[in-house]
Amino acid sequence: MSTTETASLDQHPDRNLALELVRATEAASIRAVPWIGRGEKNSADKAAVDAMRAFLATVNFDGLIVIGEGEKDEAPMLFNGEHVGNGRGPACDIAVDPIDGTSLTAAGRQNALSVIAVSDRGTMLDASSVFYMDKIVTNAAGAGVIDIERPIGDNIRAFAKAIGKDVGELRVAVLDRPRHEGLIADIRAAGAGTRLMLDGDVAGGINAARYESRIDMCVGIGGSPEGITTAAAIKALGGFMQTRLAPRNDEEREKGIAAGLDMDRTYEADDLVAGNNTIFVATGVTDGGLVAGVSRRGPTLRTESIVLRSHSGTIRRIVADHLASKWH
Ligand code: FBP
Repeated sequence: MSTTETASLDQHPDRNLALELVRATEAASIRAVPWIGRGEKNSADKAAVDAMRAFLATVNFDGLIVIGEGEKDEAPMLFNGEHVGNGRGPACDIAVDPIDGTSLTAAGRQNALSVIAVSDRGTMLDASSVFYMDKIVTNAAGAGVIDIERPIGDNIRAFAKAIGKDVGELRVAVLDRPRHEGLIADIRAAGAGTRLMLDGDVAGGINAARYESRIDMCVGIGGSPEGITTAAAIKALGGFMQTRLAPRNDEEREKGIAAGLDMDRTYEADDLVAGNNTIFVATGVTDGGLVAGVSRRGPTLRTESIVLRSHSGTIRRIVADHLASKWH
C-alpha cells in the first residue's frame, strides 16, 4: 500500500468535508427548481442527480456509494458501487438521495429535500436488497423505553411517560399509505395525534429527534435507503431509532438474506451506520419544516441547508445566496 493510500485510510470525514458536501446538495436543489410543479418527477430527479454527481466529483474524498438509487444499468442514477469524489482524502461510505420527495417536487408540494450522508469506509449497512424497512424514531428519551417489536400503543404510552407529556399531546408522524391504515388507527386509539406525511420520511425522522420540532415520534414503513440516511442524522442529533427490514415478498426476503441481512433483527442507528464519524447534509428543494426550499431573491437564489456531524454533535444551518446568472 502506498503512503498516500495509508494516509487516506487513516483520515476520517471531517468538518471541511461536511461543508464541501453541502455544495452538492445545494446544486441538486437548485437544478431541481425548474421542475417544481411540472408533473415530471424523473426530469426533476435527473436534474438533481446530474448536479450532485458533478459537484461530488470535485470533493476531496474517496467516496463509495453504498446506498444510491439503483444499479448501474438504471442510469442516470448515482448507482450503488459508484466511486465519487476526486479520490484524495478520506475513504468514505456514502448514501445519496438527490431528492427525497420527487413526487412532492413534481407536484409542487412542500418538504422535498436533497440529502447526502457520509461515514467511514465500511461502516454503512447496504440494505438496498430489501426496499422497505419499518422505523421508529424519537429523541434520546426513547432509548430503553421504546421497542419496535411492541404494539405502537404501548410505545406511545411509555414514551409519553418518559418525556412527561400526556399521551393526548403526542404527535406521531407517519407516511399516509394504505399499508399504514391499521397503524394510524392504533396511534389514534392510543390517544395520540397523527401527522400524516405525503412523502419524505427522512425529514419526518429528523423532526422526531429534534427537540424544537412539532413532531414527537416518526413511525412506519418507508424506504431502506432513507432509513440509512436518517440513521446518519439521528447519530449526530443524539436521537433514538429502531428499524426492522420489511421485505415485500419471499423473493425479496431471500435476496436480503443472501446479501447478509437479518430479517428478524432490530437494527438501531448504530447498526445501520457504525462509528462516530457520520455527516448528514440536506438542502431544501421546496419549503419544509426542517429547511426552507430554494427561493428567488432578485438576482440571487437562496438555499437553506443543515449539516449534522456526529463527531462534534453539531447542527449547523447554512443559508447561501447564489448568483442566479451563474446557474443558467
Ligand atoms: P423518493 O422521493 O426518493 O422516491 O422517496 C420518497 C419517499 O416518501 C421516502 O421519503 C420514503 O421513505 C419512501 O418514499 C416511501 O416509499 P413509498 O412511496 O413506496 O411508500
